[in-house]
This record gives sequence, structure tokens and C-alpha cells, in this order.
Amino acid sequence: MAVGVFDSGLGGLTVLDAIAARLPDLPLVYLGDNKHTPYGVRDAEDIFNLTCAGVERLWAEGCDLVILACNTASAAALKRMQETWLPPNKRVLGVFVPMIEALTERRWGDNSPPREVEVKHVALFATPATVASRAFQRELAFRAIGVDVEAQPCGGVVDAIEQGDEILAEALVTSHVEALMRRMPHPEAAILGCTHYPLVQDAFQKALGEQVQVYSQPKLVAESLEDYLARHPELVGSGTVSRFLTTGDPIRVSGKATQFLRYPIKFESA
Ligand code: DGL
Repeated sequence: MAVGVFDSGLGGLTVLDAIAARLPDLPLVYLGDNKHTPYGVRDAEDIFNLTCAGVERLWAEGCDLVILACNTASAAALKRMQETWLPPNKRVLGVFVPMIEALTERRWGDNSPPREVEVKHVALFATPATVASRAFQRELAFRAIGVDVEAQPCGGVVDAIEQGDEILAEALVTSHVEALMRRMPHPEAAILGCTHYPLVQDAFQKALGEQVQVYSQPKLVAESLEDYLARHPELVGSGTVSRFLTTGDPIRVSGKATQFLRYPIKFESA
């Protein structure tokens, strides 16, 4: 048994990389749904069906615990999966909650009522589907009161990163940050709510200014997973094999993944 990491494509490798660095002995099976990427422009029904299919594939690899590294899947499908679809012996966790817990200074599993927190103005940058779901605002409202969230759908950024066009990606980041700051001139914190954005984190920080605290997911998710597994050791199995699976063309995806993370990665066909 290993832990599964699901993403719509390559972006979740930023999360996998951070998990592997923090938990080097944990076998991880990554599944990228490259055939259907990007999810960020799909509707909620579509994202739900594709995400369920991906998670089922990871169960077949012996992964009883699956991390949805994809923000869009976490935002648009996870709640419905947990409420209507997931069998009792399986767990699926998303990547939003660890960020919200960090923002609201909570530890995992702290279910106390929402309270006032230090940060009052939060900028959220994410895909159009994630922004449309309002999942971030919903999860935040369970934990904090009096926090104003301004969300910016960052059209084009994922595509520019996937195409390796750094100049375009940075120009788009600057224009999305400017658009958000016209509506919220002084955010105290910014959430990078998409798997790809850590790769252009410097551009976000530069456009936002040094005074804005930028929350990036991979490290927070890895810390939170370590904590979760310490509480649920039964979900760590005896498997030793880490694998990279894709619904797309494994040769093409391996090449892109190697470009993306700057070390060799070999994908197999899912
Ligand atoms: N993985 C997606 C996310 O984090 C970005 C790529 C996509 O739109 O599929 O939202």
C-alpha cells in the first residue's frame, strides 16, 4: 500500500516533490490525468467524474489514502466525493484545508468554532473553476470570522507554464495581481491556490510587494500529511514502490515532467 497523489496533469508534481522531500521513505503513486487536463476550465460535474475515476485508479494501486494535489479537484469535487461517494475504508484529502489552517493559525483537526484571526484581507489566486466553486471561502468561514477574501481567476497562467513560456506566465501574473489589487489594494496575505503557481511564486511576490505574505501549498500540504499519517498510521502500508502514472502519452508526459521539475521522471501508462 502506498499513498496516492492525484492531479489533473503535471502541476501536482510540485506537491509530490515536497511530500517526497519531507517523507522520503513513504511510497507514493502519482497519477496525472494528462488526457483531460486542464480541469480549471471544466464544469463541476465533469471535474467530479474525472476525479472519481482517477481516485479509483489509485485505489487499484493499493492507495487507501489519496491526496488531491489539484486545487480545482479539491475545490469542485472533494466535498461531494466525501459526502456521497467515498467508501468508509478510504480517505481522500484535498490541498485547501492545510493552507487555510496555516492562514488561521489552527492545528489539524481543531474543530473549535470560527474565531477572529490576525489576517483580515486575503487575496486568492486560482483557476476559474476553483474561484467559481467558492470552496476556499466556505472552508475559511468554518474557521475564521471577519476575513475579507478577494479572488482572482488567473486565466492563461497554467497554459503558459505548461508551454514553458516564463515571460508570458510572469506577464499574466503581474496583470492578474494588478486586477485584484484594484479591488483590494492592501491584502495582507495571498493564497496561491493552484498547483502550478509555486513555479512562478517570485513573480507573485514581486507584483504583490514584500509586505504581503504569500502562502504556497506544497510545503504546507507535506507538513499536514506527515501530521495526518502520525495520527492514522494504519493508512501507511507496507508497499515500497513509487510510480508515476498518466492517462496521457507516457513519453511526452515524462519529457514535460522532467522539464517541469528539472530532474528525470519516468511515467507509465495508467
Ligand atoms: N492542477 C490544477 C489546479 O491546481 C491546475 C491545472 C488545471 O487546470 O488542470 O487547480
